[in-house]
Amino acid sequence: TADIDSEPMHEHVVVRRGTRSGLPIIVAVHSTALGQAIGGCRLAHYPHWRDGLTDALRLSAAMSDKCALAGLPNGGGKTVVALPTGGTPDGATRRAVLHDVGDVIAGLGGAYATGPDVGTGPDDMVTIAERTPYAFCRPVAAGGSGDSSPHTAVGVLAALRALCAERFGSAGLSARSFAVLGLGRVGSHVLRMLAGTGATLVASDLDDGRRALADAAGAAWVTPQNCLTADVDVLVPAALGGLLTANSVPKLRCTAIAGPANNQLDTSATADLLHQRGILWAPDIVVSAGGIIHATAVELHRETSDQAAVRVRGIADTLTGILRTARATGSTPADAARFRACQRIRDGRR
Ligand code: PHE
Repeated sequence: TADIDSEPMHEHVVVRRGTRSGLPIIVAVHSTALGQAIGGCRLAHYPHWRDGLTDALRLSAAMSDKCALAGLPNGGGKTVVALPTGGTPDGATRRAVLHDVGDVIAGLGGAYATGPDVGTGPDDMVTIAERTPYAFCRPVAAGGSGDSSPHTAVGVLAALRALCAERFGSAGLSARSFAVLGLGRVGSHVLRMLAGTGATLVASDLDDGRRALADAAGAAWVTPQNCLTADVDVLVPAALGGLLTANSVPKLRCTAIAGPANNQLDTSATADLLHQRGILWAPDIVVSAGGIIHATAVELHRETSDQAAVRVRGIADTLTGILRTARATGSTPADAARFRACQRIRDGRR
């Protein structure tokens, strides 16, 4: 798309057939202008490895902006293992894939460090770390900062408060209704935390097995399609990206959107459609930064978890600034966020 073509090209992209697994291992280093590139390792199914490459390119570029907006001295990268349709590797096959990933990352000599993402978790980081030191979020017992998803969720809650303050004039969540779409590692934490505020909840996941999580949170269980179009104050996308499109936006009944899913807009033009409909969209690159903020604070900057938590909650101020700039300039939050990120990257380079 035009979005990608207008971006400066990536610094380094590796596509390699894993020597052990035979699977396509894709590592995209978008930028190291501010420092080491960071971004998670995604194990996901794609029709073709080229689709995995497209995803890696987009996700890694978004990580550069995410790091810049979070004020981190890091650039963006991403790893994608493009799984053929069928099962998800486990046991010895999974180890083989992760060692292949570790070897590619080792070959980059520290330009890029990985972490957990869709399809991977802290234990997988231990396996990758058998081949390279550049893996964040190993379990605390293994010397890492542990699962990043609770911290990402804390950042999402901070963002939701800031969003509600801007949209509804109060940061309180108890009187609001939310539709949480996706109850994976991050979404399930977000749902539980929202339940703790007394908010009215609707929830969904492609996997019916997650229904118990919704029941426990007192959330009404609906289909993913009905969750997307639920009549609520705020939609919280917490599954895969690309859900906001020219086709889905006209059907939305929420008045605001903020969630941890990466790359929620299919193309940047969709931000204008949301704007025209008067739906306030909090850019995912701001909302989802809690995981990287916590992991880098603890593992790179040797801060305590409490110090890191203060930084994670800083997402609220970052988002407020962006939403206010957007309002003052009549631009979309997406444009305000990108502008801010580019500014930070330019300043950081100097
Ligand atoms: N999945 C995380 C993200 O998209 C990636 C990550 C988390 C990387 C923690 C490093 C440390 O932001």
